[in-house]
Amino acid sequence: MKIIGTGSAHPRLTITNDMLAAFLDTNDEWITTRTGIKQRQIISDERLKDLAIDAAKQAIKKGGIDVHDIDYIICSNVVNEYVTPSLSCIIHDGIDANCPCVDINAACSGFLYGLQIAHSFQRAGVARNILIVCAEEPTRMVDWKDRSTCVLFGDAAGAVLITEGDCMKSMRVTNMSKTDVLYEERKLEPTPYLRRNEDNVPLQMKGQEVFKTAVKASVKDIAHVVEEAGLQIDDIDHFLLHQANLRIIEAVSHLLKQDMSKFPHNVELYGNTSSASIPVLLNEMNMRGELKDGDKIVLSAFGAGFTTGACVIEWHSNQK
Ligand code: UT7
Repeated sequence: MKIIGTGSAHPRLTITNDMLAAFLDTNDEWITTRTGIKQRQIISDERLKDLAIDAAKQAIKKGGIDVHDIDYIICSNVVNEYVTPSLSCIIHDGIDANCPCVDINAACSGFLYGLQIAHSFQRAGVARNILIVCAEEPTRMVDWKDRSTCVLFGDAAGAVLITEGDCMKSMRVTNMSKTDVLYEERKLEPTPYLRRNEDNVPLQMKGQEVFKTAVKASVKDIAHVVEEAGLQIDDIDHFLLHQANLRIIEAVSHLLKQDMSKFPHNVELYGNTSSASIPVLLNEMNMRGELKDGDKIVLSAFGAGFTTGACVIEWHSNQK
């Protein structure tokens, strides 16, 4: 496995904390202190599929391969306006690809799950060049009268193109049965036979429990994958964590005894963009030239389920 292209896309509309305070009982000081978030970009007149296709096209262009040489598309998505076809089919159509495709939903850990599936496909000889697109619109999942959730999220798409290579050094994904700490329910079409009442339940979150579970799981996952890669924590150059809350990132940095300068973050600009957050950050670092050949990078994510995932990759730019 080797990442040869990255891409990201955001909606145009930027909403600052002060703009939220105009209609919610909240303020910039609370949101900044508790989360580090200063603003987020939110879908208004765009459609998520167009952000996903934009990010995918950037990754393919940087990867320097023909779209018809992509063997598989994996899309990580929690919710979007289509129930069917899958978002990966829509991306397939938008980039004019010619390969199988599938959606996965592992919540905010979706990028790590996608990487593991892609890596396994490569090892099994199923596919060589794989496009992973993480496209998320969590701002459509929350109740915009609920200040405890709606201030936290933003919409985005991030993509990577991978080919064969020796850059995946270790990987693990987990799930623990904690389905009640973070969930949303939606109402389906009624049938003449349905014998229960259904309702839409917007995103519900036990914030403090999610916080503690995320920190503990991330530290454990990182220690595991670093050891499995035959490395020491100090050998890692960059820790790219799911961008949910700056305090979570700071807590993990503290517990691992690693300087915050090794933990790049952009949660202050975009809020929590679910599974898109790590590929978006990876793309920004790639674009700024902050990733050097041979750099050891930890990716670590956590989300509803409660799913988690982490891996160690060695960065090598576009040499095939
Ligand atoms: O992708 C994974 C998804 N989620 C996460 O990673 C979230 C993890 N959890 C967190 O980030 C934090 O728990 C939050 C940022 C969600 C909340 O921070 P907290 O320090 O755990 O605050 P809290 O929930 O204990 O609430 C403290 C107070 C409450 O008021 P009272 O009961 O003390 O009077 C809340 O009602 O803050 C109040 N509050 C707010 N005040 C102003 C909650 N939301 C807001 C708000 N503005 N937006």
